[in-house]
Amino acid sequence: MDAAQWRDFVPLAVSLGLVVVVSILAQTRAKGKSATATTSDQEATERQDTMNQSVMMLRDEGAYRVLAAAGALERQGKKIVHLEIGQPAFPTPEWVAQAGIDAITSGFTQYTNPSGLVELKQAIAKHVAHTRGGLAVTEANVVVGPGAKPGLWFAVQAVLSPGDEVLIPDPGFPMVGRLPQCGARLTTSRQYQNMAKVFGATPVFYAALGDVREWASLVTRRTKVIILNSPSNPTGRVLSRDELAVVAEFARKARLWVVSDEIYSHLTYSDNAPAANEFSTTPSIASLPGMLESTIIVDGFSKTFSMTGWRLGFVVCAPALAQRLHLLLTHAVGCTASFTQKAGVVALTHESRVRNVADMVKEYKRRRDYVCERLNAMPGVTCAKPEGAFYAFANVSGVGIPARDLCERCLHDGGVAILRA
Ligand SMILES: Cc1ncc(COP(=O)(O)O)c(C=O)c1O
Repeated sequence: MDAAQWRDFVPLAVSLGLVVVVSILAQTRAKGKSATATTSDQEATERQDTMNQSVMMLRDEGAYRVLAAAGALERQGKKIVHLEIGQPAFPTPEWVAQAGIDAITSGFTQYTNPSGLVELKQAIAKHVAHTRGGLAVTEANVVVGPGAKPGLWFAVQAVLSPGDEVLIPDPGFPMVGRLPQCGARLTTSRQYQNMAKVFGATPVFYAALGDVREWASLVTRRTKVIILNSPSNPTGRVLSRDELAVVAEFARKARLWVVSDEIYSHLTYSDNAPAANEFSTTPSIASLPGMLESTIIVDGFSKTFSMTGWRLGFVVCAPALAQRLHLLLTHAVGCTASFTQKAGVVALTHESRVRNVADMVKEYKRRRDYVCERLNAMPGVTCAKPEGAFYAFANVSGVGIPARDLCERCLHDGGVAILRA
């Protein structure tokens, strides 16, 4: 499917809730421009010209923007249902929270190794090996950071050079908006796209819901990276092992790096329930023969353990790359919060961890079924059931109102914050 066709889709963060709106800021800006420019306005504009032009290309993330718009309405006393941001509907498990508190009160509040505590890296290596088909990884393959986002950012920075091309899913994380610099190509994959552009690379979009065999045709001699996101935000698609094998084949041939964003890997609604003490996990391309060396798994604690505000994520990759990421973290971040890391160790090792995630997934699945059924019952709306993650990606083209206006009306008239594709 062509990128332009996502115009009428509305992803509902279904925690399971999601979807929407970009026009509010545009209006505000237009008003500001009509005022006579003052000297300080001119100065500010001139200053902007001296800023790094790649950084000037950055655009914000729709979910955070709509969250802010919704927050402004809440401050005016309006009640808002938040379906815009990928916030799990459950609190951080009590035992994880307690581990963080204990770390703080016992004085574990100092700097740590920039790429993470050894005990956390070991726990992550064990967890990833166990859940990704016995991958041969150790702590040397692991880099801890403050969320999956820095993992994505630094991984992409570490492998991209100016002029490279990056294959990016469309639609992709996070939904919303179109970047004018992209010329004729309409796109929705802001986070991935922002990363590519800031490093001087060219984003090339593949149809996230399309046939994986067609993605290969986008590879040129300049292609350096393909970003995968399975389960996908916002489509909910899960790539099967066979589909990943197709990607692995063309990626190997073209010597691509594969950045595999697996942040939703344990939030999957497959009917093939895993053993009682196993995490349900979607297939990872890293576990296919010969793919570990060129795959960069990005994952984290935000979704699986409801720890979005704790800021804890990780990358699993070849040790040589891990060392480079260690240096990027050293210079850009210093280290991840020490007590957050302690909480992470408990999240990955506590005896109730699997049950807790399974209970959450059971509830997400119930909500998914409910939300999809209700959406499909609405005139002009269709919504396929997501196979993973916690978003409902609804086609609203039959409603007769542009998705942008629909989202705005949902927020302002209905008090429901959603995002548009
Ligand atoms: C696909 C995807 N990747 C990465 C992230 C970022 O996760 P974190 O909170 O760990 O930075 C999100 C958050 O919504 C996401 O949806």
